[in-house]
Amino acid sequence: MHSPLRLVAAALAISVAAACSKPAASKTPPDGPPKLRYALSGPLIPAKMTMVTAWDFPQNPLTDKSLDQSKLSKEIQLGYRLFTNTPAEASRFVPGGMSCNNCHLNGGQRERAMPLVAISGVFPEYNRRAGRLISLNDRIVDCFLRSENATGMLQSDANGTAIVAAADTLPTPTSREVLALAAYLNWISRGNEIGKSPKWRGQNTIPQPSLVPVDTLDAGKGEAIYAERCASCHGPDGQGVYVGDKKPGPLWGPNSWNDGAGAARVYTLAGIIRYTMPYLDPGNMTDQDALNLAAFITSKPRPAFPFKDKDYLVDPLPPDAVYYPKRIAVAQ
Ligand code: HEC
Ligand code: HEC
Repeated sequence: MHSPLRLVAAALAISVAAACSKPAASKTPPDGPPKLRYALSGPLIPAKMTMVTAWDFPQNPLTDKSLDQSKLSKEIQLGYRLFTNTPAEASRFVPGGMSCNNCHLNGGQRERAMPLVAISGVFPEYNRRAGRLISLNDRIVDCFLRSENATGMLQSDANGTAIVAAADTLPTPTSREVLALAAYLNWISRGNEIGKSPKWRGQNTIPQPSLVPVDTLDAGKGEAIYAERCASCHGPDGQGVYVGDKKPGPLWGPNSWNDGAGAARVYTLAGIIRYTMPYLDPGNMTDQDALNLAAFITSKPRPAFPFKDKDYLVDPLPPDAVYYPKRIAVAQ
């Protein structure tokens, strides 16, 4: 059904389309939203679209005429550039190869790809990993520290304990990059109700009945599916290959997200894969295949997040947080 040859041929066809659509998007006249050849799902790129739309941004601050020369407008534009080209624009916090956009596709404006439109207003919100309320800026810092592996910038002492070498080694809620990203995320959330989750939030989850225990998943099956349906774009080594002018981020290894990231949790990663990939045919995989693929990808090495012992101290460790040491429940 999915012969590697057909995938490669399809990927090549797409690469031409993707290569053509980027300049078109940046040449969009500055007098309104970009012209799209399909209907959006609310404000979002529909989940069924393929890689042809990878460079589409329904709300693009570089071409939106409501933005002007003000400092705020420039921050919003910087935030967008940071989001879509993170390793280049935030190099001091990003030792690896991940862009925010690799996981939150289309600038955080794609359905079922962890969209961030209208997300600003839900913060502050209780976060189980932190065990406290977190702000939008805290959440961005977390994606920097973990998904972008900013802690990979830390040095270790003789005992292997991470040490903060300089005051600006790690991102904080008031780092320049974090503020600009927040400005972009606020901009794509404008006009939305405060304190209410949009209906497209939380749609990247595998339904409860399909969630089998992680130790019953089959990473070997996942590996076989990977070779057949993923390796054409992600490479046999998981590091990603250019498809047109798009390159996915590394799925494992030293340049990938670290083991304290949400995407290092098996069910969370399966939820990303299930509705966004393979990029030429998204949404047509079974829950079981997505879970086995996630088991395979999380069986691989990735950078260590040095502060895992500070996570989940109030709420229990989730069962799919496979890189965390098991914790013995202490009787109260
Ligand atoms: C490796 C994949 C990955 C990368 C890269 C990544 N994120 Fe995330 N992000 C996630 C996951 C997983 C979640 C949690 C989603 C959930 O709980 O449903 C998340 C959640 C978020 C949220 C909260 C969304 C919500 O609905 O609560 C924000 C905001 C966010 N990310 C911003 C960013 C920014 C900004 C960057 C770049 C600096 C980034 N992310 C990079 C995977 C990633
Ligand atoms: C036709 C090419 C293509 C195929 C096939 C494909 N992907 Fe992707 N994938 C991409 C691209 C491109 C991105 C980055 C999207 C972006 O930045 O806009 C991506 C992103 C991802 C991400 C987000 C994190 C990252 O490293 O970028 C995961 C996880 C992922 N793919 C897993 C898979 C899995 C598992 C399969 C097989 C079922 C698969 N992909 C098949 C092209 C592909």
